[in-house]
Amino acid sequence: MEKGLFITFEGVDGCGKSTQMELLQEHLTTKGYDVVLTREPGGKGLGEKIREILLNYDGKVSDKCESFLFLADRAQNIDIIVKPAIETGKIVLCDRHTDSTVAYQGYGRGLDLEQINHLNKLATGGLKPDLTFVFDIDTETSMKRVGQNKDRMESAGNEFQKKVREGYLELAKKEPQRIKVIDASKSIDEIHNTVIDILAKYI
Ligand code: TYD
Repeated sequence: MEKGLFITFEGVDGCGKSTQMELLQEHLTTKGYDVVLTREPGGKGLGEKIREILLNYDGKVSDKCESFLFLADRAQNIDIIVKPAIETGKIVLCDRHTDSTVAYQGYGRGLDLEQINHLNKLATGGLKPDLTFVFDIDTETSMKRVGQNKDRMESAGNEFQKKVREGYLELAKKEPQRIKVIDASKSIDEIHNTVIDILAKYI
């Protein structure tokens, strides 16, 4: 591959996407691909500091402020980690990206979707994932997986998570070419095999 590949992993909290991302990294590395892992919020350095605020700040956070923090982190992740890696032919696996902001801040918090799309474009400079996996699962099951030890976002409640899930499914309907919905209630191995099958068309 001359230009690399940008793959994002999405879904409600507790959907199992991080496990799948690690399994895919192992698989691709064994096959000899150069793989870079990152996440939003986070990645490294400043991104991880923003993550700390977003997930653990215990005072009131306005919905708009929350969105801007996610977007600031995204701009940093794209410019510092994702773009340089793609330009040098690597495969980037990113745990959450623009669709999270649409699903969580748009569908979940109820912020204007057009504005979010516009802000996402500003943050990414127009760079879009080549492929996005949405790990879909009912929110009762996913919240059970998350357990008692919830961070600030996970504490927003089951109704919120349901709206987020709906948001992802709506997004997938709008962009079926890019967004592939995977049934995340299946076993880890079955899901991994589905991921590999889908990816085979891209590499
Ligand atoms: P995640 O890293 O998946 O959390 P965990 O480590 O618990 O698996 O995601 C962090 C949280 O941030 C998650 O609840 C989703 C939320 N989030 C948004 O609300 N908007 C965004 O744009 C992003 C990237 C994440």
